[in-house]
Amino acid sequence: MIQIVGLAHSAVREGRERIRAAARQLKLRLPGMRITVNLAPADIPKSGAALDLPIILGILTAAGGFSARCIERCLAVGELGLDGALRPVRGALSIAMHAAASPDVDWLLVPFGNLREAGAADGIRVRGARSLTDVLEVFEAAATGRTSPALLRPKELPRSGGTGAAASEGEPPDLSSVRGQSSAKRALEIAAAGGHNILFSGPPGSGKTSLARCLPGLMPPLSRREAVEVTAIHSVVAPPGRVGGLLRNRPFRSPHHSVSEAGLVGGGPGPRPGEASMAHRGVLFLDELPEFSRRALEALRQPLEDKVVKITRVNGTAVFPAAFMLAAAMNPCPCGFGGSDGECSCTPEVLARSERRLSGPLLDRIDMLADVPAVSWRALSATGGGETSAQVRARVIAARREAVGRGVVCNAELDPVQAEKACSLDHQSMALMETAVTRLGLTARGYHRTLRLARTIADLSGSGRVTVGAVAEAIRYRPPGSAERPPALARQAAGM
Ligand SMILES: Nc1ncnc2c1ncn2[C@@H]1O[C@H](COP(=O)(O)OP(=O)(O)OP(=O)(O)O)[C@@H](O)[C@H]1O
Ligand SMILES: [Mg+2]
Ligand SMILES: [Zn+2]
Repeated sequence: MIQIVGLAHSAVREGRERIRAAARQLKLRLPGMRITVNLAPADIPKSGAALDLPIILGILTAAGGFSARCIERCLAVGELGLDGALRPVRGALSIAMHAAASPDVDWLLVPFGNLREAGAADGIRVRGARSLTDVLEVFEAAATGRTSPALLRPKELPRSGGTGAAASEGEPPDLSSVRGQSSAKRALEIAAAGGHNILFSGPPGSGKTSLARCLPGLMPPLSRREAVEVTAIHSVVAPPGRVGGLLRNRPFRSPHHSVSEAGLVGGGPGPRPGEASMAHRGVLFLDELPEFSRRALEALRQPLEDKVVKITRVNGTAVFPAAFMLAAAMNPCPCGFGGSDGECSCTPEVLARSERRLSGPLLDRIDMLADVPAVSWRALSATGGGETSAQVRARVIAARREAVGRGVVCNAELDPVQAEKACSLDHQSMALMETAVTRLGLTARGYHRTLRLARTIADLSGSGRVTVGAVAEAIRYRPPGSAERPPALARQAAGM
């Protein structure tokens, strides 16, 4: 009889039946006595079927089935089929990364279905097997000095676009498919170059969603290290064994506005990573921003600040990476047409209510506001779509190289001291900034945000100095911060 103790969820406890059935099928002799499997530490919940393999290997070793030397310094995971087959488990890549970081582990044993995925981790020897029989054969041969088929080695992991359910949403559309909108495209390029969070505002059907979807294609390709990080997160969420290769594209996650707080930042039993982590190293796009619940938006503030999500439970804190760029879109007002030549039909009360819906502190973390006006017929009917994503991306990559020289990946990561150091402003630029702070009510945070933006604009133009032109353009993207008002309301107020 097998008893499993140590906060084991049902999938772990059901492993007893799988182990018993597999042992009978393979004619393995399990000890007849009562066996207690102790999952330590006892206060951390264990879930999933990945513990089947280590449990049966532990039992067989204890019963003298083979030398304990075989599994010394080995981390094994795998779900056992009733016939002894090894089935893939969730999150094999993050398990492999954990094994690589652990001083107690020399090698990782995984089911064949996880071999390529786990093999993508650096710094750990990974071996795979199709069945328990294969594993035992190798171990027994090692003990008796016979030669035997070795465990399987991972093949180089091909880079693929998607992973089924957890796929980042395919190839990004090309920028040239969006007509006109030259100033919004310019803002998009600056956002991509500096990693600045951007909010698009404009009437329905002007191309806000289409523009945002182009963003991953304007950013530099994922480095191998980044691709491993991103794939590891997606492999925790995807069905077991579905990750066929390292993700190649930067993630673009566009959760519906009805998403819960847990869906957005992670949670639930486990806990599981949320959209913010699925967007790690890519773009989190909040379309129809004012429709998101205030709770969900507030929950994003911490990851925006720290680049990680921390989920605290009684028995510990889970930390998921969440270094994403935030893009958002909204209509300037509920009727959708505020700002476009005064066609807005919203009453001041409706405007005030929609203004309250957007949390000031979240808007305070948006670096750029880009107007996306209705497209003119001329722009729409023009032949030739303008620049391609590849052309813009080349400039973005060059600009990001400058940021690397400052010790950051992109300028959005410059802290206030670094930002001031990177932008020594001349008299004229200082005067312009002063006007912005005093007359436009720019906050201290807004000031540093404008500095970083100006730095990115200068980097894109290949200029070492931050010119007055760069500062002026940066100020134009001033978003409606907490102290300032959303554009429609401000415009209407100005018109009244
Ligand atoms: N600038 C544009 N160039 C080419 N096609 C466009 C442009 N703007 C909009 N479209 C077309 O209109 C459709 C809707 O565009 P999109 O969803 O990007 O607009 P939107 O601004 O997000 O609108 P909404 O406010 O309703 O969400 C697109 O599928 C595209 O075919
Ligand atoms: Mg849209
Ligand atoms: Zn309106």
